[in-house]
Amino acid sequence: MTDPAADPVLQAFEARLAKGEKAEPKDRLPERYRRQLVRMMSQHAHSEIVGMLPEANWITRAPSLRRKIGLLAKVQDEAGHGLYLYSAAETLGVPRDELIDQLLTGKAKYSNIFNYPTLTWADIGMIGWLVDGAAIINQSMLAKCSYGPYVRAMIRICKEESFHMRQGYEMVTALARGTPAQQAMAQEALNRWWPPTLMMFGPPEEQSTNSEELVRWKVKLKSNDELRQTFVDQTVVQAQVLGLRIPDPDLRYDEDTKHWTIGPIDWQEFFAVIGGNGPCNRDRLRARREAHEDGAWVRAAAAAHAAKNPQVNA
Ligand code: 3HC
Repeated sequence: MTDPAADPVLQAFEARLAKGEKAEPKDRLPERYRRQLVRMMSQHAHSEIVGMLPEANWITRAPSLRRKIGLLAKVQDEAGHGLYLYSAAETLGVPRDELIDQLLTGKAKYSNIFNYPTLTWADIGMIGWLVDGAAIINQSMLAKCSYGPYVRAMIRICKEESFHMRQGYEMVTALARGTPAQQAMAQEALNRWWPPTLMMFGPPEEQSTNSEELVRWKVKLKSNDELRQTFVDQTVVQAQVLGLRIPDPDLRYDEDTKHWTIGPIDWQEFFAVIGGNGPCNRDRLRARREAHEDGAWVRAAAAAHAAKNPQVNA
């Protein structure tokens, strides 16, 4: 951590943030702040784009036209979220090609959660209900952070995530109130998606290498553990309404704190997955590399058109 007293730019910057001002691309940003935001926003964008893959796996197998239309809309939204976030990251002076290359070469991270397979239709409901539900809690915080372009992207994305979560919860409700086989499918999917969704919020504070700076610069307004707790409190009650069991034998309601307490999280699994050794990491990167190669002609055509029509990009 740089000592602000030794860095007048940082000192002036932190004074502005302390007054609740937002940083904008034209401002003189401390290099460390800029790098932290490039890391976070690009990994967020990668997560949106990679997140399309497990969901798209069920578009051709959706159980009805209505479910197919809803899933198509959601996957399309995720693509748009990725584009908003790459655009917001580019305001920090980093070219999009560079960010995408970091993903395709395995240098950049994306959310752990998208390295798990979608084995049944119930998984699509769980992604909407749990994963988008977790994303909304995290993103609602980021919608109040200190970097203007990130705030504006989050405000728009949160509106669409709310639709995704409602759609997912409705899907799971239909299964939970369906036949015994459908109820069993929903419970089996919850058993698989609950643990990695808790990990989405990041490691516990004592293992969070970036939180101190991000909290100081008002990028993170709450800790990983606080956001996780909000998610647990909200979701346990929803599962009870559905008659589904949270797969945690240590789950308890603490009358004193008015919070649900959970059992241990397998952080060894988390760090293995974000280190590239999850069930689907290789498939996800292969799919993204193939899509990037298949799209090379589109990028070449767009560049040729722009070169012949300079006024188009003026
Ligand atoms: N998946 C992958 N890597 C993760 C992670 C996760 N869920 N949580 C933490 N990490 C990584 C961090 O990137 C960091 O590694 P790095 O320094 O090499 O980048 C390391 O683990 C230590 O974690 P920290 O707590 O220090 O990291 P942060 O302070 O950055 O906190 C975060 C992690 C909470 C994910 C934060 O980066 C963040 O809020 N990012 C923006 C939101 C985001 O990326 N969400 C992804 C989900 S998008 C989504 O769900 C799409 C929806 O539409 C379905």
